[in-house]
Amino acid sequence: MIPNPDLNIWEHSRKLRSLVRRRGLDLAPEMDCAAQGAELVAPFVTPGRPILLDVGCGGAHFYHSLKRRGLKTDYRGLDSSPSMVKIAKSAFRKLGLDPSKITLGDVRDLKDFRCQIVVMINTLSFNADFRQPLDRLAATGARALIIRDFFASKTIVKYEIDGFLDPGFNHLKGYWNQWSRTEVSKFLSSLGYRSTFVPDTRSKGKIELVVNKPYRWSWLVAEKLP
Ligand SMILES: C[S@@+](CC[C@H](N)C(=O)[O-])C[C@H]1O[C@@H](n2cnc3c(N)ncnc32)[C@H](O)[C@@H]1O
Repeated sequence: MIPNPDLNIWEHSRKLRSLVRRRGLDLAPEMDCAAQGAELVAPFVTPGRPILLDVGCGGAHFYHSLKRRGLKTDYRGLDSSPSMVKIAKSAFRKLGLDPSKITLGDVRDLKDFRCQIVVMINTLSFNADFRQPLDRLAATGARALIIRDFFASKTIVKYEIDGFLDPGFNHLKGYWNQWSRTEVSKFLSSLGYRSTFVPDTRSKGKIELVVNKPYRWSWLVAEKLP
């Protein structure tokens, strides 16, 4: 079930929508994290266009990062915010791509979907817990789950006001969580994945502010064990 759009922080920023629209049409500079994500994905892109699921795809700009590097995948975007999906579908239509590759849905409801590669960039943190999303991603059978998030020595769950939304919506709250590397890797190990944490080339281990909240980004590359 998708989150109620009235209460969903991703539905109430005109500024964000405008940026996402430009990124979806490849009219904005490539995000550093998308560039690093595509490089981390590259070793898993085998011949035959493996299905790649981009979870929390926003405007689906990650498609362009793959294309730019000649990484041939069957790209699918999934996002639980109707406005983001509308932007991604519209960009795909304008670019002559198939908008049906973009789906409105919550990753926690994902079932009967198989793919070879999963990417989830700047998205897991905004969920109440890491377990349900990662369980559903492991159920895809993907050979690699490539995730950029706030991984740290311990899990801290924060449910707080965003504060950077359109006027009239600044009472809305969201999750801004960090996850214990040990808990995440143990959980993924129970699902048959080996976890490796990789530094983020953009933030280089330093704190970055996201709507004034401290984030220390890094990457998790979880590979399916044979
Ligand atoms: C910060 S944006 C990241 C967008 C893009 N991946 C990027 O890096 O620019 C987070 C996105 O994740 C989506 N999202 C958050 N939780 C989700 C979930 N459980 N299932 C699907 N999408 C989700 C939100 O709607 C939002 O579009």
